[in-house]
Amino acid sequence: MKLEELEEIIKGRRSVRRWKDQNVSEDLLRRAVEMATWAPNGGNFQGWRFVAVTNRELIVRMADAVQSVADKIASWPEASQWKGDAERMRKHASYFRSAPACVAVFVRQYESVADKILAVREPSDPDAREIRGFRGIAPSGIQSAAAAITTLLLVFHAMGLGAVWLAAPLIAKREIEELLFIPEGMDLVSLVAVGHPDERPQKDRKPVSEVVEFIR
Ligand SMILES: Cc1cc2nc3c(=O)[nH]c(=O)nc-3n(C[C@H](O)[C@H](O)[C@H](O)COP(=O)(O)O)c2cc1C
Repeated sequence: MKLEELEEIIKGRRSVRRWKDQNVSEDLLRRAVEMATWAPNGGNFQGWRFVAVTNRELIVRMADAVQSVADKIASWPEASQWKGDAERMRKHASYFRSAPACVAVFVRQYESVADKILAVREPSDPDAREIRGFRGIAPSGIQSAAAAITTLLLVFHAMGLGAVWLAAPLIAKREIEELLFIPEGMDLVSLVAVGHPDERPQKDRKPVSEVVEFIR
């Protein structure tokens, strides 16, 4: 593949939030997940699981669960400080109910040998506690899941599908985990809603000069 072709796939992908009423084949979903598993991941531990939901009723029930928690959050008196934003959050919480398919991504946290040593030492050593805190900012399992989800989105795009990464539904983590088959000891990280796109959204990026620095 030429670099320009890769660039076209990367830059051509946009988050898609409207889908045609057309199913996504299980073959495509399986193939996309298989490719996503080639993403880099901590220690090649591959502590991820992907639950591909094509049952529309189940997707609606997941969306209902998210909407119900979003409604609750927006109804709390504390929400009045951010009235407009809270109302927007409530309004957009469950649009993925119309997605023909939804991939739920789960991780089992990866513990490197450093993590194990730090966990044992932490109670008696402030240095160990501080270093453990650094690891906690961006746990390896979450970074690995993010790498897989990014790959999944690019593959879906290359397949002509449209997808969106959804972290917001995590507000209903317990409810979604109850609705899905959850492998023991795993945590829901995100949903990826996918289907045949019914929109072509545009988005820009900051110029690279604003986000990169070179230290020579
Ligand atoms: C970690 C993460 C969480 C996201 N969560 C949501 C979400 O809950 N709902 C949503 O509509 N989009 C979500 N997105 C999509 C972003 O809004 C989108 O990627 C961003 O606006 C840039 O647009 P683009 O993907 O079209 O380039 C999320 C993206 C990432 C990386």
